[in-house]
Amino acid sequence: MIIQKPKGTYDLFGDEGKKVLYLEDLLKALMQKYNYEYIKTPLFEVSELFHRGVGETSDIVSKETYDFVDRGERKMTLRPEGTAGVVRSFIENKMYGRASQPTKLWYFGPMYRYERPQSGRYREFYQFGVEAFGSSDPLLDAEVISIPVNFFKLLGLRGVRVNINTLGDIESRQNYRKALINYFKPHIDCLCCDCKNRLENNPLRILDCKVDHDLDIMKNAPKIYDYLNESSKKHYEEVKNYLSSLDIEYIENPNIVRGLDYYTHTVFEVEANVEGFGAQNVLCGGGRYNSLVEAVDGPSTPGVGFALGLERVLTALEFEKKELPIEDKLDVYVIPVTEKEKEYSISLVNTLRMSGFSVDMDYMSRNVKGNFKQADRLCAKVVIIVGEDEINQGYLSIKNNINNTEDKIDNDYIINYLDEVIEEVE
Ligand code: HAM
Repeated sequence: MIIQKPKGTYDLFGDEGKKVLYLEDLLKALMQKYNYEYIKTPLFEVSELFHRGVGETSDIVSKETYDFVDRGERKMTLRPEGTAGVVRSFIENKMYGRASQPTKLWYFGPMYRYERPQSGRYREFYQFGVEAFGSSDPLLDAEVISIPVNFFKLLGLRGVRVNINTLGDIESRQNYRKALINYFKPHIDCLCCDCKNRLENNPLRILDCKVDHDLDIMKNAPKIYDYLNESSKKHYEEVKNYLSSLDIEYIENPNIVRGLDYYTHTVFEVEANVEGFGAQNVLCGGGRYNSLVEAVDGPSTPGVGFALGLERVLTALEFEKKELPIEDKLDVYVIPVTEKEKEYSISLVNTLRMSGFSVDMDYMSRNVKGNFKQADRLCAKVVIIVGEDEINQGYLSIKNNINNTEDKIDNDYIINYLDEVIEEVE
């Protein structure tokens, strides 16, 4: 039997691969404009990091991690998300000691969660994310929210909706937690199995339960806004003001509590608001986490960030029928007329590549007719034919597909020629 890919994973190639590379480039350019610094952390970390960082009671850590014991008997986990690893690196590399703060970082890479695979939900998926440390100014919350909003704007996605909420500071959150436990306790029998467990461990998560979502008791549950202390209220109000200054439309949604335990104050999600998109319509999520660095044994440092799922962004693009401007054409295709011109041809190909052109040649010993067909398949802008005469007399025969002409160009002028004709179309 042919070996197949593991459940919940996919191979990336062809057009989808090109799209992902395009999105990566776009994000890289955007991050340069925002002055964020690139960071890459390992795909696996010691398991304890996620227990402390993401939280024991989160679904991600309690049910979804890929854990293994390495050959040195260490407990390791494939990262289910990026924040914990970046926090670990921020502490380990003493980035908090840099003169220039805040420390604003971005990352892109695969994450692993043992979830039930379905459309938009994979066991290996790609996240782009940012984490910004060292400032508790609500201005930074607004900046972070503006990143996915601007990214979606650049892509031309229109059916996106920003949902925001606040969980307040630790004190407000604790008071709210107690209120939720008191409220849900008498109704425990109506709750689903997961929520029965959540009641004592993580009552906030009851609010975004997909199973109990429509129960009447959900509608009347206590609202966080009634439990916020003054400073938490102020923080939230300022975030909203800055979002308005940025012309970012948002919806206040008290049920956004997020699936990870580390959040304080602002939490947000951006969802695809397109009919038929499917259940997994949250394109990105994030928020502030002012106690996380301390929880991972670093010096008390505020943080805020978000991550978006690349696969879901691709689905959103498909749903909105947005084509990405992917350049598929090859600049030059080189045809050696016979075996004898292969050596000359490969050297020419190399020179042209090193001069900045995308170039390919025949590796299948096709005849000239077959090679012209191949050049068409590759949408080559220019075809160069290398025959015995050409080599002996120092010129190259050109079929210019841009303006449909045939030319003979002196060897020494080929780069100038290509510069001119290819620039014309760009
Ligand atoms: P998260 O909400 O767990 O947050 O994931 C962020 C995004 O990753 C989701 O909105 C979704 O688009 C995508 N995603 C999550 N799970 C899957 C999956 N199984 N398959 C496909 N896509 C998925 C975090 O991970 C936090 N670390 C975000 C953050 C950064 N908060 C602060 N800083």
